[in-house]
Amino acid sequence: MESPSAFAYRGCTPQQGLLLTASLLNLWSLPTTAQPTIESVLPNAAKGKEVLLLVNNLPGDLGGYIWYKGEIIDSNLQIVSYEIITKTITHGPAYSHRETMYPNGSLLFQKVTLQDTGYYTLQAIEKMYQKPVRKPALQASNATVTEHKEAVVLTCLSNDTGISIRWLFKNQILSHKDRKKLSQGNSILTIDPVRREDAGGYQCEVFNPINSSKSDPFRLDVQYDPTLPSPGLSDGDIVDIMVGTLIGVVLIAALVCFLCIRETRGTDS
Ligand SMILES: *[C@@H]1O[C@H](CO)[C@@H](O)[C@H](O)[C@H]1NC(C)=O
Ligand SMILES: *[C@@H]1O[C@H](CO)[C@@H](O)[C@H](O)[C@H]1NC(C)=O
Ligand SMILES: *[C@@H]1O[C@H](CO)[C@@H](O)[C@H](O)[C@H]1NC(C)=O
Ligand SMILES: *[C@@H]1O[C@H](CO)[C@@H](O)[C@H](O)[C@H]1NC(C)=O
Repeated sequence: MESPSAFAYRGCTPQQGLLLTASLLNLWSLPTTAQPTIESVLPNAAKGKEVLLLVNNLPGDLGGYIWYKGEIIDSNLQIVSYEIITKTITHGPAYSHRETMYPNGSLLFQKVTLQDTGYYTLQAIEKMYQKPVRKPALQASNATVTEHKEAVVLTCLSNDTGISIRWLFKNQILSHKDRKKLSQGNSILTIDPVRREDAGGYQCEVFNPINSSKSDPFRLDVQYDPTLPSPGLSDGDIVDIMVGTLIGVVLIAALVCFLCIRETRGTDS
């Protein structure tokens, strides 16, 4: 999506112009109405050398924003972050003392140079993801069960909202199939019937896109008759690939060429 730009590169070659592009990554899906947009504008064309990355249509329930230099979210490339509730501005490693972050998310560059040319990324953080996730509690129906005869029900208890739950068995993400069932938003793990290979350490982990926390380990003991053969192979492990929903709204490719206009004017007069 390209925004209509009043700053077409008339008479400018791209090398002479200043290209600032930006995109918005939010960490969770947004309603499809009123997608946020970013455009680069010259707030004070007469004064020149200022570029505003203007953010429109951000949803109202945000906790904060982070601007990055570049196309990826990398804390080393963080320019500035803003926490809405405390109105706290924090400068990051990529801050050059020429950027001003506004409470509405827009970012102003002053004394822009050709070195500022490039891609910028805005990360919008929903309110409920701002607090660190608290440690969940793991509750078990029984710590000792008998092979083939009994089931065990493990429950992950968390008071946090906006979280997801996954289970770890012997420090690996648990594959939940066959005898292992998850229910109630993954908060309940039922193993029915239990087998000897299910003995070991379990943990549940609650997570949101920016933080996570594991319960204390719980050890399940399985009693079995050693004269009976082990009943088959254990479930194959499936690694759940966690792909956060990233909605990238790529907005602008505005070529700002006042630098060369000024240069041209300068040589004309
Ligand atoms: C955000 O704030 C800046 C500075 O006050 C202003 O120039 C800009 O228009 C504002 N953006 C929106 C979308 O209101
Ligand atoms: C736990 O399992 C053991 C062994 O199977 C059984 O004897 C005991 O009654 C169970 N305890 C509870 C609370 O279910
Ligand atoms: C959830 O909150 C209740 C009431 O404050 C507390 O008793 C319980 O321990 C909390 N549970 C967890 C997992 O933090
Ligand atoms: C979650 O946030 C807390 C507090 O900011 C931090 O100490 C912890 O390392 C974070 N955990 C992860 C997995 O990012």
